[in-house]
Amino acid sequence: MTVHTTVGQDPDSNDVVILLEMQHREIRRRMDAVLTATGKAREKAFRRFVHLLAVHETAEEEILHPYVRKAAEKGGPTVAARLDEEEAAKRTLRELEDEGCDSEDFPRKFRALRDDVLAHAEAEEAEEFPLLRSVADAARLQYMSKALRAAETVAPTRPHPGTGSAAGNLLLGPFAAIADRTREAVRMALGR
Ligand SMILES: [Fe+2]
Ligand SMILES: [Fe+2]
Repeated sequence: MTVHTTVGQDPDSNDVVILLEMQHREIRRRMDAVLTATGKAREKAFRRFVHLLAVHETAEEEILHPYVRKAAEKGGPTVAARLDEEEAAKRTLRELEDEGCDSEDFPRKFRALRDDVLAHAEAEEAEEFPLLRSVADAARLQYMSKALRAAETVAPTRPHPGTGSAAGNLLLGPFAAIADRTREAVRMALGR
């Protein structure tokens, strides 16, 4: 488990941007783990990556993008570009899920996906997060962080003490299933 040593890195932070950036770093770690693993370990690492990516991108689609598009003057084009990138990543991911981790083409395709996912996260950090900060007050960031944490609670992104293996297996489903569960959790938290 990651050790957080500063207040700003506190997993219970009330700042949604800090939480999203922490998830970006964890997504990167999990992609690297997939690329260094083989066989059953690769499969396991891939499932862990898919899980976090589904939680993260779905939460952004529900919490972050709609707000930035509406509230920030230049939000529209930025959000449209980010949504296109997310859709492209999902298409590649679906192919990888269908073909399986032992397919011959997996390492090449996964490396390409990794590059795209990292470029997407960098664009969010460089363009969209600053836009969010320019229009959202602390209360808004806190409200959003609550919804993001709700998504993590229903679909944990890291092992929690006391999580049994049955529950663990249930949670490590395909991208689409995890995305559905996350959407539900976020909408409940936002009272939609
Ligand atoms: Fe995203
Ligand atoms: Fe992101």
